[in-house]
Amino acid sequence: MSAESPHVKGGIGQSILRKEDARFIRGKGNYVDDVKLPGMLYLDITRSPYAHAKITAIRTDKALKVPGVLAVITGKDLEAAGLAWMPTLMSDKQMVLPTDTVMYQAQEVAGVVADSRYAAADGAAAVEVDYEPLPVVTNPFKALEPGAPVIRTDRAEKSNHIWHWETGDKSGTDEAMTSAAVRVSQDLYIPRIHVSSMETCGCVAHMDAVSGRFTIWMTTQAPHAIRTVYALVTGLPEQNIRVISPDIGGGFGGKVPVYPGYVIASVASIKTGHPVKWIEDRSENLQADSFARDYHIHAEVGATKDGHVSALRVKTLADHGYTDAAANPSKFPAGLFHIITGSYPFAKAFVEVDAAYTNKPPGGIAYRCSFRVTEAVYTIERMMDILAHKLNVDPAELRLQNFIPPEAFPYRSALGWTYDSGNYAGALKKAMEIIDYAGLRREQAEKRAKGELMGIGISSFTEIVGAGPSQTFDILGIKMFDSAEVRIHPTGKVIARFGTKSQGQGHETTYAQILAEELGIPADDIRVEEGDTDTAPYGLGTYASRSTPTAGAAASMAARKIREKALHIAAHLLEVSPDDIEWKDYAFRVKGVPGKSKTMAEVAFAAYTNHPKGTEAGLEATDYYDPPNMTYPFGSYICVVDIDKETGQVKVRRFVAVDDCGTIINPMIVDGQIHGGLTMGFAPSLLEEIQYDEDGNVHGGTFMDYLVPTAVETPNWETAKTVTPSPHHPIGAKGVGESATVGAPPAIVNAVMDALRPYGVEHIDIPLHPWKVWQVLHGGGKSA
Ligand code: CDP
Repeated sequence: MSAESPHVKGGIGQSILRKEDARFIRGKGNYVDDVKLPGMLYLDITRSPYAHAKITAIRTDKALKVPGVLAVITGKDLEAAGLAWMPTLMSDKQMVLPTDTVMYQAQEVAGVVADSRYAAADGAAAVEVDYEPLPVVTNPFKALEPGAPVIRTDRAEKSNHIWHWETGDKSGTDEAMTSAAVRVSQDLYIPRIHVSSMETCGCVAHMDAVSGRFTIWMTTQAPHAIRTVYALVTGLPEQNIRVISPDIGGGFGGKVPVYPGYVIASVASIKTGHPVKWIEDRSENLQADSFARDYHIHAEVGATKDGHVSALRVKTLADHGYTDAAANPSKFPAGLFHIITGSYPFAKAFVEVDAAYTNKPPGGIAYRCSFRVTEAVYTIERMMDILAHKLNVDPAELRLQNFIPPEAFPYRSALGWTYDSGNYAGALKKAMEIIDYAGLRREQAEKRAKGELMGIGISSFTEIVGAGPSQTFDILGIKMFDSAEVRIHPTGKVIARFGTKSQGQGHETTYAQILAEELGIPADDIRVEEGDTDTAPYGLGTYASRSTPTAGAAASMAARKIREKALHIAAHLLEVSPDDIEWKDYAFRVKGVPGKSKTMAEVAFAAYTNHPKGTEAGLEATDYYDPPNMTYPFGSYICVVDIDKETGQVKVRRFVAVDDCGTIINPMIVDGQIHGGLTMGFAPSLLEEIQYDEDGNVHGGTFMDYLVPTAVETPNWETAKTVTPSPHHPIGAKGVGESATVGAPPAIVNAVMDALRPYGVEHIDIPLHPWKVWQVLHGGGKSA
């Protein structure tokens, strides 16, 4: 935007400050725990110490005697109401409270309602439960062995196998793999991790017995879908259910599912006639919900002898815990894992995934990733480096040689996705230039000669976001479109409501910027609201970086509908035919008559005071946007690490991230998204992992042993952009929220493996803790 070129204050491309920060930085946000209602009660939950056990008795008498305790809710109470089990998002079912068996450590066993949080906690501790421990299985490979203890005895199939899913050309891939001159293969484990959002999960449920209205303030990323599911499961009339998602302190996918606590609090409110608040504490959050990944992957890549990739074959075992609660579109049980062909033109590919039950909490949430894309990107980007090593070529050269070229877009991948646009070489070359790749390789050679350990890692990822085209994308049958409702008031000020729900992404700012650009009204004059099912239009919510591709597009489309009507009013005001009017430089102008024009604000006033005969008063429009395709953001990341030979400690010295998310609405917000995402990609690469021992005890259930990076560990991120607009999005924007979480891990791991090249080790599973690296350095090329 040059100083002379016309612009609207706060339009697209401007780094305006976030509207929502006015309340956030003053500590004036309104989170669920800030909701206080008269007569409000508190729920606490008794949890299982066992990962698998029969419940032989639950005694509540002592708990009921704790001063302040009013009720104890058990599975038997819920069973009577048909609510002991509830559906998961993947058409499996999940216990709200168990009637006879617990299946993971920290599972909810009873809910205690009291007049204070402290009394509820004392009551929960006083519930007495008798358990008979059952055999435990926490390893999915063992879970599928004959004779393994069957976890879900409630199912007709007496096995721990949940489903098998495959896609691609099996025989063609087998043939291509057999005839490939060069083949590489690798086992990769992506461990279970946790989203660790700053705010834990919670709700305030309120059934008003007089009006029959049920209101729930809830930490949910998808309020409308929750309302519909509540209506379907409980039989409550949908118009009497109001879901309010107030400010959310980070969701990252972890606040998409319905957790048992929400339902127990709802039942408690119905039972007591009072509003009931439930807020998880940190350990409950870390031990019982919001888990992701847990994929055991075997990948093979075939290539010609001069390094052109030809075939990709992947076999995966997915550990879902005791129920399949993954938040995937129903057609894709392994999410969008089949984006695994990445940025490369594989002619043949075949992917299969089997899913297993284990005695762990439900996993599989799409943690800052569009349904298993992180797992896919990690695999292909690790495999490209392993192939480069086998061929003895530079990993940057191998990628540049193989990338799908810009002129091949729209490009249909071997696994059936049509990539909208891309310029992969452009992004990688830019990253190489910024970081001085050639200089780094020279430095590395010098250091290697001196016995020092320095590594350079690349990740050139392709993402898939914007779920989605409703033909293929739904959650529990509800189609995945999204919406915007825009109203211009007489004085030219705007209120706009959306079906999505920001959890820190800054929608109040960026949606206003899109509308400012489309309507010629300053962003300051546009108020954005989300998260209240009584007021917002229906939408599927915010996760999987879908808000910009869906609701952002709906904002444009609704604004354009308004412009169509406004043009007629402008023609009436300017006393010319509508054909003589054009929308140009943020105003309605009479073609060829400079100076004869009307602003949107002038038209808005007329829409309520002086609208033409035969035209409805008012200026508003709603759009339900069903995207024609997904958007495919991409990027190239280069990471430089130094490794301390004595301790095995990995230090990220530099990290350059070149991202391309098409048209950028707010560069500062996008950079914030990238910074946060990179940190969330750095975390599982080097630190985070939730482990379970053979008895199903969770290791990593507190922040003492679940190592979330702080500002001390987090490297300095260097960011840059290329812009390749999406051809099908109204403003050319692609999603960006998860790109960095998805793209960072392979860059970091590739850098570490590059540093360890002299030790002859091809792969170490994440997280790359110092002890694992140390073992390689001191154990003759073998990692643990
Ligand atoms: O669905 P979610 O909001 O998590 O992800 P997103 O659509 O990728 O957007 C994340 C934030 O980045 C939002 O505030 C977007 O408006 C902003 N963004 C942007 O400014 N330009 C883009 N091309 C994409 C996103």
